[in-house]
Amino acid sequence: MKLYEQLADSIAQSIQEGVLCRGDKLPSVRHASTSRHVSPSTVLEAYYLLEARGLITARERSGYFVTGGAVNIPSSPAPIIQADPQLTQVDVSELVFQVLQSIRVKNIIPLGSAFPSPLLFPRANLARTMASSVQSMDPWASIDTLSTGDANLRRQIALRYMMDGLHVAADEIIVTNGALDALNLCLMAVTRPGDTVLIESPTFYAALQAIERIGLRAIEVPSHPKDGIDLDAMERAIQRHKPKACWIMTNFQNPLGSLLSDDKKKALVALITKYQVPLIEDDVYSELYFGDKRPMPAKAFDTQGLVMHCSSFSKCLAPGYRVGWVAPGQYTQLVERLKLTTTISTSVPSQIALQVFAKVI
Ligand SMILES: Cc1ncc(COP(=O)(O)O)c(C=O)c1O
Repeated sequence: MKLYEQLADSIAQSIQEGVLCRGDKLPSVRHASTSRHVSPSTVLEAYYLLEARGLITARERSGYFVTGGAVNIPSSPAPIIQADPQLTQVDVSELVFQVLQSIRVKNIIPLGSAFPSPLLFPRANLARTMASSVQSMDPWASIDTLSTGDANLRRQIALRYMMDGLHVAADEIIVTNGALDALNLCLMAVTRPGDTVLIESPTFYAALQAIERIGLRAIEVPSHPKDGIDLDAMERAIQRHKPKACWIMTNFQNPLGSLLSDDKKKALVALITKYQVPLIEDDVYSELYFGDKRPMPAKAFDTQGLVMHCSSFSKCLAPGYRVGWVAPGQYTQLVERLKLTTTISTSVPSQIALQVFAKVI
């Protein structure tokens, strides 16, 4: 089979499977030639063939459009709804271990993985900044910044909130070893073993691991790939099970990818405020937005300090540096004390990482 026929077949398959739908525009010849590593004439031949098969049409000065194949985008999976969700004792470690083993295969894009490709990060820039930071590093920094983290970094993070229109004081921000450390600290700050925590279903596996480790019980609330957690089901679960905390991903949920609208974030905050349940907002993916503006966190709508906003630079700058933070609202002191007794970052490498980030972000 010739190259252009192979290309035409692969596009035809995307059309049959509904990946490309009626009315969708095909990539320009130049773009397809670059992305598929073939010559522009091969792309053109493939498009002519698809036109002859009645699958696409050329529109003058606009390009090629799909005219055949599937009419509708395949429907998204329905959320798993349990009529009366029961408390679950959590045991997921073995499954997580298997998933993490499976993502090491380098020639496969691991769609089940929460780790972006390590090749995408600005390693050269980070390395340069690291080298200059080491030279100018204040040896006292590792003591001065005990528990809460590098002051300049906290100020930079506060500035980022400000740019999004949120007021979060630099004093409220606690630098952590990645977002996971922040999330764990929050969970430990507001729960005791045996308590119930409200989570989404499905959820990020490390939430389940944390719940398992601390000896908590989970109440699952269905989440939809399009608009996220079901707030009616959440209210019923709060009334019935009286959770001590909710752990929810508001922006690009892992694993569903859903994004809560601002209205829904407002409604979520109104709900946790009504029942006075702290919300641990797991927000590590908001940086990976398409569009003009980073989506707001639910914290933007919180007036009582009930939202503990957790994030990190792991998904957008460098996972290995383990630089995350939490803005814990009214729980700031609790989290700060807990951090002091659990995971203070005084090591030289982590101090350097903090200084590097204060300069790079
Ligand atoms: C939803 C979610 N929260 C938190 C984390 C942890 O982030 P970090 O690597 O900064 O600890 C991840 C990473 O896998 C994630 O997918």
